[in-house]
Amino acid sequence: MKTRRTGQEQSLWYKDAVIYQLHVRTFFDSDGNGTGDFQGLIQKLDYILELGANTVWIMPFFRSPGDDDGYDVTDYRAVDPRYGNLNDFRNFVSAAHARGLRVIIELVLNHTSDDHPWFQRARRSEIGSTDRDYYVWSKNDDKFSQARVIFTDVENSNWTWDPIANAHYWHRFYEHQPDLNYNNPAVVQSMIEVMQYWIDQDIDGFRLDAVPYLIEREGTSSESLAETHRILKRIRKSVCERNPDIVLIAEANQPTEKVMEYFGDGDECHMAFHFPLMPQIFMAIAKGKGQPIISAVTRTLDIPDSCQWAIFLRNHDELSLEMVSDKDRQYLWSAYAPEEEARINLGIRRRLAPLMDNDRQRIELMHALLLSLPGSPVLYYGDEIGMGDNIALADRHGVRTPMQWTDEANGGFSSNAEDDLTLPVISDGAYGFRRVNVASQLDDAGSLLNWVRHALAVRSEHDCFGRGTCRILETNNESVISFIRDYAGDIVLCSFNLSSDQQAANIQLNPDLPAPSVLLGSGDLQTGGKGLLAATFAPYAYHWALIATES
Ligand code: BGC
Repeated sequence: MKTRRTGQEQSLWYKDAVIYQLHVRTFFDSDGNGTGDFQGLIQKLDYILELGANTVWIMPFFRSPGDDDGYDVTDYRAVDPRYGNLNDFRNFVSAAHARGLRVIIELVLNHTSDDHPWFQRARRSEIGSTDRDYYVWSKNDDKFSQARVIFTDVENSNWTWDPIANAHYWHRFYEHQPDLNYNNPAVVQSMIEVMQYWIDQDIDGFRLDAVPYLIEREGTSSESLAETHRILKRIRKSVCERNPDIVLIAEANQPTEKVMEYFGDGDECHMAFHFPLMPQIFMAIAKGKGQPIISAVTRTLDIPDSCQWAIFLRNHDELSLEMVSDKDRQYLWSAYAPEEEARINLGIRRRLAPLMDNDRQRIELMHALLLSLPGSPVLYYGDEIGMGDNIALADRHGVRTPMQWTDEANGGFSSNAEDDLTLPVISDGAYGFRRVNVASQLDDAGSLLNWVRHALAVRSEHDCFGRGTCRILETNNESVISFIRDYAGDIVLCSFNLSSDQQAANIQLNPDLPAPSVLLGSGDLQTGGKGLLAATFAPYAYHWALIATES
């Protein structure tokens, strides 16, 4: 049930967010040149709205050579001309706001492209000067040796020699992405000014890319250091002074305790991607057991009141297995990526539908979890229609192919020649655009797309999903998990059978509560005496059931 918001609650808008992540490049091409653009995105905003999202997160669109798909910036104040110009961006923001959609943009603050004028200036500047110190230099390549290499497939060191500077420079990602030096106050100030610039373009939030790596120190892992958190608090303060409703989302793929530090005392990031939970959802389904989800959730319930998890299943990167144990990684690789080409770095470059063997029931189950676990869900474009991937493409491009709108040429993404698209559309097989596309699913009442729309509509009627507490219930079946979401008397019971077999489970509810009635999914629920609920589930079945809506 929806409640009326007080002023302070309204400023916590991100707690009710349903975020749709997309890349302007591959969403919709309005001018037929083969690349998506802001004008195209504007034409598709109603689709996002009707899906049931209320927030759009767009991947990097600043000027860039595109060697890491825009995560290599050369001008933090310019729109990549392939996508349009600043006016087009502004029109997009106003068109989104006119529909009640918020806009989150990407801020790649840890590093730039090596083509960035700051780097070009730094490599030619005097040692010890402020300009030189925009980046991290060393005569030797053995400094900070405890820092891991992240892109293990392509890099074997975090240092690269620069003959112009006559020194090595530090980079946590590709060698063409030198890390900015956040020990230099001028860098912090420059980035704050970049943020203020975009806040003034009326955006609603930033995803802070690769945020754990801002500061490095000898003898440490150079990740999530106290100094990094001090800088984030400073950034938060400046951002809020400019506009108190701006939201910061941390992309911190770190161990559980470390990710939680990004909330600070409610004075750092408003949200953080729930990296500890994501692989455990895949683990739970692979094992047919609830425990991986239960432990990840219970360990992460206690966050500051004003903060919120951003929960996700898939995104534009590989499904990261960096933070799971070696044993679990091997298990997940063999369960979900038996073929070597599906693996990249320490992860899996596949989309949700192929990971679930295109099994509709499992895809629904995953979404039903995503939409009911504590936090704000982030949906990756195309997963709502069950799009596939193309692992023959390099890097992580296989999960970034153009959106499939229709069964017409290029899946309706672009009118350009097929060979002249920014990335190839998936055209053949079970995931080809003739079989998987928005138009045909809109016409089919039983489609995945219509199911996702329905699930989001049900979710939007209940504040408990975004704002409520989560209490895990005891069940007598290790394949079934059950929890209660509760916000101001709006109480929903959510239960899931994670296994491929039919299951029966007894779920202990508070005997004083009324009997549940199913809102979404299926399941035979029999209430016995003393609040004992006997539920039976088909393979991978789930239900959300309303218990009460009192305020
Ligand atoms: C982004 C990646 C990118 C990397 C370097 C990540 O965290 O999500 O797509 O390649 O940062 O910017």
